[in-house]
Amino acid sequence: MCGIVGVVGSKNATDILIQGLQKLEYRGYDSAGIFVSDERKNQSIIKAVGRISSLQEKIGIEVNGSIGIGHTRWATHGKPTENNAHPHASESNRILLVHNGVVENYKEIKTEYLNGHHFIGETDTEVCAHLIGKFIEVDHLTPKDAFVKALGIIEGSYAFAMVDREDPTVIYVAKNKSPLLVGLGEGYNMVGSDAMAMIRETKQFLEIHDKEVVIVKKDSVEILDEAGIQQERDAFTAELDLSDIGKGTYPYYMLKEIDEQPAVMRRIMQNYFKDGKYLVADEIKKAVIEADRIYIVAAGTSYHAGYASKTFFEELTDTPVELCIASEFGYNLPLLSKKPLFIYISQSGETADSRQVLVKTKELGYPALTVTNVPGSTLSREADFTMALHAGPEIAVASTKAYTAQIAVMSILAKAVGEEIGNEKAKSFNLIQELSLVATSMVATLAEKEWIESKVAEYLKDTRNAFYIGRGQDYFVSMEAALKLKEISYIQCEGFAAGELKHGTIALIEEGTPVLAIISNKSIASHTRGNIMEVSSRGANVLKVVSADCQEEGDDILVGNVHSYLTSLAMVIPTQLIAYYATLQRGLDVDKPRNLAKSVTVE
Ligand code: G6P
Repeated sequence: MCGIVGVVGSKNATDILIQGLQKLEYRGYDSAGIFVSDERKNQSIIKAVGRISSLQEKIGIEVNGSIGIGHTRWATHGKPTENNAHPHASESNRILLVHNGVVENYKEIKTEYLNGHHFIGETDTEVCAHLIGKFIEVDHLTPKDAFVKALGIIEGSYAFAMVDREDPTVIYVAKNKSPLLVGLGEGYNMVGSDAMAMIRETKQFLEIHDKEVVIVKKDSVEILDEAGIQQERDAFTAELDLSDIGKGTYPYYMLKEIDEQPAVMRRIMQNYFKDGKYLVADEIKKAVIEADRIYIVAAGTSYHAGYASKTFFEELTDTPVELCIASEFGYNLPLLSKKPLFIYISQSGETADSRQVLVKTKELGYPALTVTNVPGSTLSREADFTMALHAGPEIAVASTKAYTAQIAVMSILAKAVGEEIGNEKAKSFNLIQELSLVATSMVATLAEKEWIESKVAEYLKDTRNAFYIGRGQDYFVSMEAALKLKEISYIQCEGFAAGELKHGTIALIEEGTPVLAIISNKSIASHTRGNIMEVSSRGANVLKVVSADCQEEGDDILVGNVHSYLTSLAMVIPTQLIAYYATLQRGLDVDKPRNLAKSVTVE
């Protein structure tokens, strides 16, 4: 949530900030703002409510300089107004600050240090800007020392970038729990919430660790640890391509990312299978084998991917798997087994809810594996092991290709472990062949977009609510399908175990209520069809998404058969398209649904 970008030493600071902010818009789009200055101290602050495009409209050609910081906001403290938009200024206006995170003790800071100060907005960030400003103006500290002193008082999560108007040649940055990277250029340097925000300018990056302070100038980057001791750090090269983060000819990222899924399946196979062997690090397999129980911790779509992986994981590895909602785990700690292994599934690798659990389980001494699309992300760095999704950047807020990649990578892990322990089912499960079949099934479904679009118009037009139902794996897909539909089309939708609907929720079915049924398992298909009859006879309008081997006359959307362990990978595709078209037909922004952010870095 919230994106930060900064540059020093460039001729086109404004352009670089805007380009960077556009790439960070997935982190929030309630308001945006920039500060730019040239070396002669011609300075501008521009802010706008809403998207980066609204900010762009307000920027004249005269707004440029050699240094700048910018921010795109997902509102936490205070409404999305211009007064609450970043950058925030200190009382005298000398210090400008952008921030991503949540300062937990901002009220205490206000009372203890900032009596009599006048604030224009309600944000925790403005309080921090005032605190730093006060240490400069009243206590006569240097900007660096004031920044460091303030960081010693501030509690919570933060990624900060600060500029002193009196010396527009330095950006002071620091992070704790929120992501921030330095980008290295020739004669200029940058900071940003992720590599995508800087990739047009550079591929060379430096990590920043929690509680470090970094002093970024056009030709130097100085990293200081909490004790003020200078740190040496090697740069790394980001394997990101500009074309990976563009929309190409697609109207929306979401459609591009849905379409990429067969290719992602193939990429996962290439990365994890070579010369007849599954390429999973020995220590990861060992960690699974030694565990007496697997705890999958995740949020949102990643949590649903955990569910979709549970059955095959248990059957292939002989190890029970428990699913935990990250935001609940800290308070509702289940009775843990003696030798647990924690698997954190996270597209971004930055989700604060998951991270707080990781911190806790590390303290308890338990091993952790992160399955993520962003190796090098916080969850990846802090876990003992990482497995990468190889899905390529996912930019639409609604997650699609990361979900299928997560399940595919979990299947690789389960198969590799199963083979190692001589599990009979694992030995006879030709995963590579089955994943190829998944890719083929996905391609066939994706070729039916027009048909699916017409079904959406038929079943979901003007509805305010809907249900997805399914049994077994299809229930797990129903949960994800419902989340996808509601988060972007705003149709209130629940995913239900088909047999459970009659125990209460069926009371909500009335004439015309859309019920979307998923059927991919022959042995339980007749039961789900029974549930369809129950809702149909109460007036529901039932759309049936059915695998080829369960097909009956009158079914609406057919999906090519895949192995029973992997049905989620195939059955989810039409549901992603259903969500996409329902949103388009309502004239809404598919990629940027209201109130949401892609990377949720606050608890
Ligand atoms: C946010 C996003 C969801 C995502 C969830 C978990 O809520 O909007 O799409 O599933 O976070 O994110 P993660 O990056 O941990 O998978």
